[in-house]
Amino acid sequence: VKRITTHILQEMKARGEKISMLTAYDYSMATILDDAGLDVLLVGDSASNVMAGHETTLPITLDQMIYHAQSVVRGANRAFVVVDLPFGSYQGNSKEALNSAIRIMKESGAHGVKLEGGAEVVESIQRIITAGIPVMGHLGLTPQSIYKFGTYTVRAKDEAEADKLKTDALLLQEAGCFGVVLEKIPAKLAKEVSESVHIPVIGIGAGPHCDGQVLVVNDMIGLTKGFRPRFLRQYLNLYDGILNAAQEYIRDVKSNDFPNDKEQY
Ligand code: KIV
Ligand code: NA
Repeated sequence: VKRITTHILQEMKARGEKISMLTAYDYSMATILDDAGLDVLLVGDSASNVMAGHETTLPITLDQMIYHAQSVVRGANRAFVVVDLPFGSYQGNSKEALNSAIRIMKESGAHGVKLEGGAEVVESIQRIITAGIPVMGHLGLTPQSIYKFGTYTVRAKDEAEADKLKTDALLLQEAGCFGVVLEKIPAKLAKEVSESVHIPVIGIGAGPHCDGQVLVVNDMIGLTKGFRPRFLRQYLNLYDGILNAAQEYIRDVKSNDFPNDKEQY
Protein backbone atom coordinates (compact mmCIF):
# COMPACT_ATOMS: atom_id res chain seq x y z
CA VAL A 1 0.00 0.00 0.00
CA LYS A 2 1.09 3.51 -0.79
CA ARG A 3 1.51 5.80 2.22
CA ILE A 4 -0.54 8.99 2.32
CA THR A 5 1.72 12.05 2.16
CA THR A 6 1.22 15.77 2.71
CA HIS A 7 1.46 16.09 -1.06
CA ILE A 8 -1.45 13.66 -1.54
CA LEU A 9 -3.52 15.54 1.07
CA GLN A 10 -2.84 18.75 -0.85
CA GLU A 11 -4.00 17.10 -4.10
CA MET A 12 -7.14 15.84 -2.39
CA LYS A 13 -8.07 19.39 -1.45
CA ALA A 14 -7.28 20.63 -4.95
CA ARG A 15 -9.63 18.10 -6.55
CA GLY A 16 -12.30 18.42 -3.88
CA GLU A 17 -11.92 14.96 -2.36
CA LYS A 18 -12.71 15.13 1.34
CA ILE A 19 -10.05 14.03 3.83
CA SER A 20 -11.02 11.54 6.55
CA MET A 21 -9.24 11.78 9.88
CA LEU A 22 -9.81 10.19 13.29
CA THR A 23 -7.77 10.08 16.46
CA ALA A 24 -6.02 6.88 17.54
CA TYR A 25 -3.98 6.16 20.64
CA ASP A 26 -3.09 2.47 20.50
CA TYR A 27 -1.98 -0.29 18.13
CA SER A 28 -5.24 -2.27 17.93
CA MET A 29 -7.39 0.72 17.05
CA ALA A 30 -4.80 2.05 14.59
CA THR A 31 -4.81 -1.31 12.80
CA ILE A 32 -8.60 -1.23 12.37
CA LEU A 33 -8.76 2.43 11.33
CA ASP A 34 -5.89 2.01 8.86
CA ASP A 35 -7.59 -1.08 7.40
CA ALA A 36 -10.82 0.92 7.08
CA GLY A 37 -8.96 3.43 4.91
CA LEU A 38 -8.66 6.54 7.08
CA ASP A 39 -6.40 9.10 5.38
CA VAL A 40 -4.98 10.61 8.56
CA LEU A 41 -4.63 9.22 12.09
CA LEU A 42 -4.15 11.85 14.79
CA VAL A 43 -2.43 10.84 18.00
CA GLY A 44 -4.30 13.59 19.82
CA ASP A 45 -3.50 14.92 23.24
CA SER A 46 -7.17 14.07 23.85
CA ALA A 47 -5.47 10.86 25.01
CA SER A 48 -5.16 12.81 28.26
CA ASN A 49 -8.97 12.73 28.54
CA VAL A 50 -10.05 9.48 26.94
CA MET A 51 -7.06 7.27 27.73
CA ALA A 52 -5.82 8.64 31.06
CA GLY A 53 -9.05 10.05 32.51
CA HIS A 54 -7.82 13.60 33.08
CA GLU A 55 -10.31 16.45 32.97
CA THR A 56 -8.20 18.43 30.46
CA THR A 57 -5.43 17.85 27.91
CA LEU A 58 -2.88 19.76 30.00
CA PRO A 59 -1.39 16.94 32.14
CA ILE A 60 -0.26 14.57 29.36
CA THR A 61 3.53 14.53 28.90
CA LEU A 62 5.75 14.37 25.82
CA ASP A 63 6.93 10.88 26.87
CA GLN A 64 3.33 9.69 27.14
CA MET A 65 2.47 11.15 23.72
CA ILE A 66 5.51 9.37 22.25
CA TYR A 67 4.34 6.05 23.77
CA HIS A 68 0.89 6.45 22.17
CA ALA A 69 2.48 7.54 18.87
CA GLN A 70 4.80 4.51 18.74
CA SER A 71 1.80 2.20 19.16
CA VAL A 72 -0.24 3.94 16.45
CA VAL A 73 2.66 4.03 13.97
CA ARG A 74 3.10 0.25 14.33
CA GLY A 75 -0.54 -0.22 13.30
CA ALA A 76 -0.67 2.25 10.41
CA ASN A 77 0.52 1.04 6.99
CA ARG A 78 -1.23 3.61 4.82
CA ALA A 79 -2.50 6.46 6.97
CA PHE A 80 -0.48 9.63 7.56
CA VAL A 81 0.19 9.76 11.32
CA VAL A 82 0.15 13.18 13.01
CA VAL A 83 1.06 13.63 16.68
CA ASP A 84 0.01 16.47 18.97
CA LEU A 85 2.75 18.40 20.72
CA PRO A 86 1.44 18.40 24.30
CA PHE A 87 0.95 21.43 26.52
CA GLY A 88 4.28 22.73 27.82
CA SER A 89 6.43 21.09 25.16
CA TYR A 90 6.52 24.00 22.68
CA GLN A 91 5.23 27.26 24.21
CA GLY A 92 8.51 28.26 25.87
CA ASN A 93 10.58 29.05 22.79
CA SER A 94 11.16 27.82 19.25
CA LYS A 95 14.22 25.75 20.24
CA GLU A 96 12.17 23.84 22.80
CA ALA A 97 9.40 23.37 20.22
CA LEU A 98 11.88 22.01 17.68
CA ASN A 99 13.41 19.62 20.22
CA SER A 100 9.97 18.29 21.16
CA ALA A 101 9.02 17.79 17.50
CA ILE A 102 12.33 16.04 16.79
CA ARG A 103 11.81 13.68 19.75
CA ILE A 104 8.36 12.72 18.44
CA MET A 105 9.62 12.10 14.90
CA LYS A 106 12.74 10.19 16.01
CA GLU A 107 11.27 8.09 18.79
CA SER A 108 7.86 7.25 17.30
CA GLY A 109 8.35 7.24 13.53
CA ALA A 110 5.31 9.48 13.04
CA HIS A 111 4.98 11.58 9.89
CA GLY A 112 4.16 15.01 11.27
CA VAL A 113 3.19 17.04 14.33
CA LYS A 114 0.31 19.33 15.26
CA LEU A 115 0.33 22.25 17.67
CA GLU A 116 -2.22 24.78 18.85
CA GLY A 117 -2.22 28.51 18.11
CA GLY A 118 -1.55 31.13 15.45
CA ALA A 119 0.73 34.16 15.57
CA GLU A 120 1.96 33.23 19.07
CA VAL A 121 3.60 30.02 17.85
CA VAL A 122 4.42 30.86 14.23
CA GLU A 123 8.16 31.22 14.92
CA SER A 124 8.22 27.73 16.45
CA ILE A 125 6.28 26.35 13.49
CA GLN A 126 8.76 27.86 11.03
CA ARG A 127 11.69 26.38 12.90
CA ILE A 128 10.13 22.90 12.98
CA ILE A 129 9.27 23.05 9.28
CA THR A 130 12.79 24.24 8.46
CA ALA A 131 14.03 21.02 10.08
CA GLY A 132 11.94 19.08 7.56
CA ILE A 133 9.06 18.12 9.86
CA PRO A 134 5.51 18.58 8.49
CA VAL A 135 3.39 20.74 10.81
CA MET A 136 -0.39 20.97 11.12
CA GLY A 137 -1.95 24.01 12.80
CA HIS A 138 -4.97 24.05 15.13
CA LEU A 139 -7.20 27.12 15.57
CA GLY A 140 -10.55 27.93 17.13
CA LEU A 141 -11.25 25.99 20.30
CA THR A 142 -7.73 25.05 21.36
CA PRO A 143 -8.18 22.85 24.45
CA GLN A 144 -4.71 23.54 25.85
CA SER A 145 -6.02 27.10 26.49
CA ILE A 146 -9.16 25.96 28.30
CA TYR A 147 -8.32 27.91 31.45
CA LYS A 148 -8.01 31.08 29.35
CA PHE A 149 -11.37 30.42 27.63
CA GLY A 150 -13.10 29.12 30.77
CA THR A 151 -15.54 27.04 28.71
CA TYR A 152 -15.62 24.52 25.84
CA THR A 153 -18.30 26.45 23.91
CA VAL A 154 -18.07 27.64 20.28
CA ARG A 155 -15.18 30.05 19.53
CA ALA A 156 -14.86 33.02 17.15
CA LYS A 157 -18.50 34.05 17.25
CA ASP A 158 -17.53 37.70 17.58
CA GLU A 159 -15.86 39.65 14.80
CA ALA A 160 -12.59 40.33 16.60
CA GLU A 161 -11.90 36.66 17.30
CA ALA A 162 -13.07 35.66 13.81
CA ASP A 163 -10.73 38.22 12.24
CA LYS A 164 -7.78 36.95 14.28
CA LEU A 165 -8.59 33.38 13.28
CA LYS A 166 -8.65 34.30 9.56
CA THR A 167 -5.33 36.14 9.91
CA ASP A 168 -3.84 33.20 11.84
CA ALA A 169 -4.93 30.70 9.16
CA LEU A 170 -3.11 32.75 6.51
CA LEU A 171 -0.05 33.02 8.78
CA LEU A 172 0.02 29.23 9.25
CA GLN A 173 -0.20 28.73 5.50
CA GLU A 174 2.56 31.29 4.98
CA ALA A 175 4.73 29.52 7.56
CA GLY A 176 4.42 26.32 5.54
CA CYS A 177 1.89 24.25 7.50
CA PHE A 178 0.56 21.33 5.44
CA GLY A 179 -2.90 21.70 6.96
CA VAL A 180 -4.89 23.20 9.79
CA VAL A 181 -7.57 21.89 12.17
CA LEU A 182 -10.47 24.23 12.94
CA GLU A 183 -12.28 23.23 16.13
CA LYS A 184 -15.76 24.33 17.19
CA ILE A 185 -16.27 27.54 15.20
CA PRO A 186 -19.26 28.71 13.12
CA ALA A 187 -19.65 26.80 9.83
CA LYS A 188 -19.73 30.07 7.88
CA LEU A 189 -16.33 31.14 9.23
CA ALA A 190 -14.83 27.69 8.56
CA LYS A 191 -16.11 27.93 4.97
CA GLU A 192 -14.46 31.33 4.51
CA VAL A 193 -11.16 30.04 5.87
CA SER A 194 -11.27 26.85 3.78
CA GLU A 195 -11.78 28.94 0.65
CA SER A 196 -9.07 31.48 1.55
CA VAL A 197 -6.19 29.00 1.95
CA HIS A 198 -4.83 26.33 -0.41
CA ILE A 199 -3.79 23.97 2.41
CA PRO A 200 -6.32 21.39 3.66
CA VAL A 201 -8.62 22.57 6.44
CA ILE A 202 -9.85 19.77 8.69
CA GLY A 203 -12.90 20.56 10.80
CA ILE A 204 -14.32 19.28 14.07
CA GLY A 205 -17.54 21.01 14.97
CA ALA A 206 -16.76 23.42 12.12
CA GLY A 207 -19.44 22.52 9.58
CA PRO A 208 -19.49 20.77 6.20
CA HIS A 209 -17.40 23.16 4.10
CA CYS A 210 -13.99 22.12 5.42
CA ASP A 211 -11.69 19.98 3.25
CA GLY A 212 -11.94 17.12 5.71
CA GLN A 213 -13.36 16.07 9.06
CA VAL A 214 -11.85 14.75 12.28
CA LEU A 215 -13.46 13.25 15.38
CA VAL A 216 -12.14 11.72 18.58
CA VAL A 217 -12.52 8.01 17.82
CA ASN A 218 -13.71 7.13 21.34
CA ASP A 219 -16.56 9.62 20.91
CA MET A 220 -17.61 8.45 17.43
CA ILE A 221 -17.75 4.80 18.51
CA GLY A 222 -19.70 5.65 21.66
CA LEU A 223 -17.14 4.80 24.32
CA THR A 224 -17.42 8.12 26.14
CA LYS A 225 -20.62 7.80 28.15
CA GLY A 226 -22.80 10.88 28.22
CA PHE A 227 -20.64 12.98 25.86
CA ARG A 228 -23.04 14.00 23.07
CA PRO A 229 -22.17 17.49 21.78
CA ARG A 230 -24.15 18.65 18.74
CA PHE A 231 -21.23 18.24 16.32
CA LEU A 232 -20.68 14.58 17.23
CA ARG A 233 -22.18 11.81 15.12
CA GLN A 234 -22.04 8.57 17.10
CA TYR A 235 -21.61 5.59 14.75
CA LEU A 236 -21.61 2.86 17.41
CA ASN A 237 -22.63 2.47 21.01
CA LEU A 238 -19.61 0.55 22.26
CA TYR A 239 -20.20 1.63 25.84
CA ASP A 240 -23.40 -0.42 26.02
CA GLY A 241 -21.93 -3.13 23.80
CA ILE A 242 -18.94 -3.68 26.08
CA LEU A 243 -21.05 -3.31 29.22
CA ASN A 244 -23.41 -6.05 28.01
CA ALA A 245 -20.51 -8.32 27.01
CA ALA A 246 -18.85 -7.86 30.40
CA GLN A 247 -22.09 -8.60 32.24
CA GLU A 248 -22.66 -11.70 30.13
CA TYR A 249 -19.09 -12.84 30.92
CA ILE A 250 -19.70 -12.32 34.65
CA ARG A 251 -22.89 -14.42 34.44
CA ASP A 252 -21.09 -17.19 32.53
CA VAL A 253 -18.19 -17.29 35.02
CA LYS A 254 -20.48 -17.32 38.07
CA SER A 255 -22.76 -20.01 36.58
CA ASN A 256 -19.84 -22.24 35.52
CA ASP A 257 -20.98 -21.89 31.89
CA PHE A 258 -17.49 -20.56 30.92
CA PRO A 259 -15.22 -22.29 30.08
CA ASN A 260 -17.13 -25.20 28.56
CA ASP A 261 -15.88 -28.60 27.30
CA LYS A 262 -14.43 -27.13 24.11
CA GLU A 263 -12.79 -24.15 25.80
CA GLN A 264 -10.20 -26.14 27.76
CA TYR A 265 -7.11 -28.34 27.23
O1 KIV B 1 -6.48 15.92 20.54
C1 KIV B 1 -7.39 15.82 19.69
O2 KIV B 1 -8.20 14.86 19.68
C2 KIV B 1 -7.51 16.87 18.67
C3 KIV B 1 -8.64 16.79 17.70
C4 KIV B 1 -9.94 17.06 18.38
C5 KIV B 1 -8.45 17.68 16.54
O3 KIV B 1 -6.70 17.75 18.64
NA1 NA C 1 -5.36 17.90 20.44
